[in-house]
Amino acid sequence: MAYETLIIEKRGAVGLITLNRPHALNALNSILMHEMEEALARFHEDDAIGAIVLTGSEKAFAAGADIKEMKDLSFTDAYLGDLMAGWDRIAASRKPMIAAVSGFALGGGCELAMMCDFIIAADNAKFGQPEITLGIMPGMGGSQRLTRAVGKSKAMDMALTGRMMDAVEAERAGLVSRIVPVDKLLEEALAAAAKIAGFSRPAVLMTKESVNRALETTLAEGVRFERRLFHALFATEDQKEGMAAFVEKRKPAFRNL
Ligand code: CAA
Repeated sequence: MAYETLIIEKRGAVGLITLNRPHALNALNSILMHEMEEALARFHEDDAIGAIVLTGSEKAFAAGADIKEMKDLSFTDAYLGDLMAGWDRIAASRKPMIAAVSGFALGGGCELAMMCDFIIAADNAKFGQPEITLGIMPGMGGSQRLTRAVGKSKAMDMALTGRMMDAVEAERAGLVSRIVPVDKLLEEALAAAAKIAGFSRPAVLMTKESVNRALETTLAEGVRFERRLFHALFATEDQKEGMAAFVEKRKPAFRNL
């Protein structure tokens, strides 16, 4: 399938999605949202793909939801059309997703990066939730995910003043997992994704599920949930292989079984 707003590639066991609306700094319009849903569904169906990298251009990961597409909407248009609800399906991706962010990640762009499992930032990355400057507020999960990522004070500062955070501040605040030179961004993100894709898929997916559960439940419930998944992994052949390989001092050959 040919995409209008995305470039889709396979790099070994990694699915690479590049946002491709350069004239609009990768603003997220409805076509892009539908195309991303479609591309992710294909990567999920493809057993050869073990992890996904989402990236943009050097200047912009994405400068937000498409303001030109939204500007004339009425309340009823937004409400009956359930504006932005489709992004929840993208956030629900089961295979690990890494956001490789260079340049602007603003509004929906920052929110899309936060839907991924972690963010690797180029040293020129800038994050922000500037919706307040447009007379609106975050609408793709920013008020929730940013608060969980960086805490109330910084999330309030970002969302109420609309100011941007640079990569250093974002890493210090826990929004991004690492900062790399801009010319190494894709290489680092692809290497991290390839590493993940090389592990046992059941273990990878359960790890992701368990970490995400930490954001949604109490500590006691989360620990119990983790232990149940931990126990379940002893039913996999990959657990036998992983531990046998350790004892035999060789590299494991995981088969996702
Ligand atoms: N929607 C639509 N078009 C956008 C856009 C957006 N979010 N961001 C940038 N563009 C377009 C510009 O209109 C411009 O198009 P034209 O050449 O046709 O005029 C082109 O991209 C280049 O942008 P600039 O000329 O503005 O580039 P710049 O380098 O001077 O500034 C910027 C870069 C600071 C990122 C600036 O473009 C900007 O402030 N963009 C908007 C950021 C924003 O407010 N994002 C939040 C959107 S609302 C949202 O996301 C809601 C939600 O939570 C779901």
